[in-house]
Amino acid sequence: MPQYFGKLPTTNQPWTTIGNVKSVTWDNNIINFDCDNSRLTISVLAPNLIRVRFALTGQFMPRRSWAVTLDDAEWVTTPFTVQETEATVEIETAQIRVCVQREKCRIACFDKNNRPFAQDAEMGIGWRMGATAGWKEIVADEHFYGFGERTGFLDKLSEVKTNWTTDALDYDALTDEMYQAIPFFMALRPELGYGIFFNTTFWSQFDIGAEQPGIWKMETRGGELDYYIIYGPEPAQILETYTQLTGRMPLPPKWALGYHQCRWSYQSETVVRELAQQFRQRRIPCDVIHLDIDYMQGYRVFTWSKQRFSNSAKLISDLAKDGFKTVTIIDPGVKYEPEGNYDVFDQGIENDYFVRKADGTLFHGYVWPEKAVFPDFLRPDVCNWWADLHKSLTDIGVAGIWNDMNEPAINDRPFGDEGEKIWFPLDAPQGGGEAGSREQGAEGNVPVSSSTHTEVHNLYGLMMAKACYEGLERHRGSERSFVLTRSGYAGVQRWSSVWMGDNQSLWEHLEMSLPMLCNMGLSGVAFVGCDIGGFAGNATGELFARWMQVGMLYPLMRGHSAMSTARHEPWVFGDRVENICREYINLRYQLLPYIYNLFWEAVTTGAPILRPLLYHFPNDPKTYSLYDQVLLGASLMAAPIYRPGVEHRAVYLPAGTWYDWWSGESYEGPIHILAHAPLERMPLYVRSGAIVPMQPVRQYVDQAPLDEMKLRIWPGNKEYQLFEDDGHTNDQDKHFSLTNISVFTEANQTIVEIGARVGEWTPSPREVIVELVGVGEQRFQDDGKQRSLQF
Ligand code: GLC
Repeated sequence: MPQYFGKLPTTNQPWTTIGNVKSVTWDNNIINFDCDNSRLTISVLAPNLIRVRFALTGQFMPRRSWAVTLDDAEWVTTPFTVQETEATVEIETAQIRVCVQREKCRIACFDKNNRPFAQDAEMGIGWRMGATAGWKEIVADEHFYGFGERTGFLDKLSEVKTNWTTDALDYDALTDEMYQAIPFFMALRPELGYGIFFNTTFWSQFDIGAEQPGIWKMETRGGELDYYIIYGPEPAQILETYTQLTGRMPLPPKWALGYHQCRWSYQSETVVRELAQQFRQRRIPCDVIHLDIDYMQGYRVFTWSKQRFSNSAKLISDLAKDGFKTVTIIDPGVKYEPEGNYDVFDQGIENDYFVRKADGTLFHGYVWPEKAVFPDFLRPDVCNWWADLHKSLTDIGVAGIWNDMNEPAINDRPFGDEGEKIWFPLDAPQGGGEAGSREQGAEGNVPVSSSTHTEVHNLYGLMMAKACYEGLERHRGSERSFVLTRSGYAGVQRWSSVWMGDNQSLWEHLEMSLPMLCNMGLSGVAFVGCDIGGFAGNATGELFARWMQVGMLYPLMRGHSAMSTARHEPWVFGDRVENICREYINLRYQLLPYIYNLFWEAVTTGAPILRPLLYHFPNDPKTYSLYDQVLLGASLMAAPIYRPGVEHRAVYLPAGTWYDWWSGESYEGPIHILAHAPLERMPLYVRSGAIVPMQPVRQYVDQAPLDEMKLRIWPGNKEYQLFEDDGHTNDQDKHFSLTNISVFTEANQTIVEIGARVGEWTPSPREVIVELVGVGEQRFQDDGKQRSLQF
């Protein structure tokens, strides 16, 4: 029977559930429960974090450090107590109590107010041929977010979410498997939220009350159940712990926060030069130009077309002089070309770097270069080789890499030799097994034997992105780089930014982009974006203008469009739309200090950059389904228009004072208002006490030293920490500065206090303008010293 992507043989066999607890022992932070022949362990890793593992045979598999960055033993010791009663075993930390019922070994967690969460349902834990699963209760008013890359709106109650990376071409709201597979979610109700990281790379699936209302289920086609429970109670704490577990992103270069322009394809050097010139002539800021597959010689990765890009080094250096960074696409499929003198193929064959089938023959698929073979990124020696291949690109000035088709997509065109669809064989060995290719296991330096594609399918994109990241680190000196990937797994934020693949030029896709990106942010991946204007199809000017307004909020702001669609650059729809695009890209550049600070926050705490309102208002149930308003950081809230012909929309302003960004008008929340939004206007609001650092418009990030910084401050009581550095070198862990700024009201005055700048980085001479919005402004030459301003 052929084994297909995500369609492993299924069975209707009933589940066998775990038996009663026979004995309990503990060893440091691990509590062992023997249940007949099987074994369950609970590790206490932090006051809000436990790990649950279940092995049917009593033997745990060696785990590898693909997603989890900290071994159980590496967490700081957490004090906890264990109390045994006749019916239960109770484990208690400073934040939670975990109660294991001896009968059927059922687990329930409680907060300090005795509110249950992540409580096993009647079934608890079970297994059947090749699969294990866990069932837990859904509490009234509980809502579910995260799940990595997902279409549809925010809350995933009553949905089934499969974790199996797939080329999700033509996706829509009903699509299940996507490019990314991130088996993590958070459940939220007033006063209580928790997260679940399902630590399995095998095919897995969450069923959030679809099969049985009131019960959510996790199932994996790997032999063992291994999951982490993270107590919040708020999303911010859940994410902080989840990203401690799976890692955080490195600080990207500031230019990567500017506007990126892409198309499949800018066919030649001449076309690229014209494009760059248009941006500068029209004074539309842009920092990055992406080159899609046609820059290559017949889609051979790490080559250039000699006809169309005869002098790529000169092109890239001319672009650089004009302030543009060049990003090139790299796909994993290497053209199968025996006699072709194609280095990459030859080296891969010589060193046996490509995936082979179980019978030892070379595996091939069909991608852009037709017949192609696939590097085994699970092997460190292969990653090393791949990382170094990027040198040919970095040597001529390429500043970032766009990793595509790495689910991996293998049959996009044409179909196989016999006209059939080709599948990646699930039993293909991957990861090698020899000494040279062993990895540091999560449980110590265990020798890791070879896996099969079944276990590591979901890791293909992640490991490709990791190899790419390491290559750029190695070959770009002290410069930070930009990495973009389509596919990934939990922890992808450590290596790369992510875009949502092939969306469409539809109003529905513009609408869906907000909840999609918010759920990515709630899954630990903060640096995300969707193709502005839509990839497939043709946008109208109106759709494009609205999309550019929303795109200004995307952590990754890139316009892209597919081959054989109409052009989608900011100026193709005439003056009105061009002016709107310029205005919103300008606003993006003015807000860069604020946005860059959000990136720093993501780097240090795992917080998303683009946030659903529930992130900051987790006790306000009105925010639980609110998918069409977003917060850019804690202070700015947008309520975009995502329907044709619409010039008014309802906006919900949660508790607190809010100001209209454009008019300055204030509102007392909670309140619903009707916003007026002609095409030129995206409704934007600011929370009271907001401190928003801004800069003058630049045509590109590093155009000239900034001689001015503006602090826009709205009356209220808040504190803010401003992070600054040079924005592009890798030693930012040393050379940065922090400035504490606060605003508060005293008697009838508003006071703004700016602390002394602390740290090793000093900005070039600049004037600081402090604007208390609606009141007035004060200016001074920045000397880094503390000062207090009264308004
Ligand atoms: C895939 C990518 C798309 C790219 C195209 C050609 O469809 O998702 O962004 O333009 O391949 O490389």
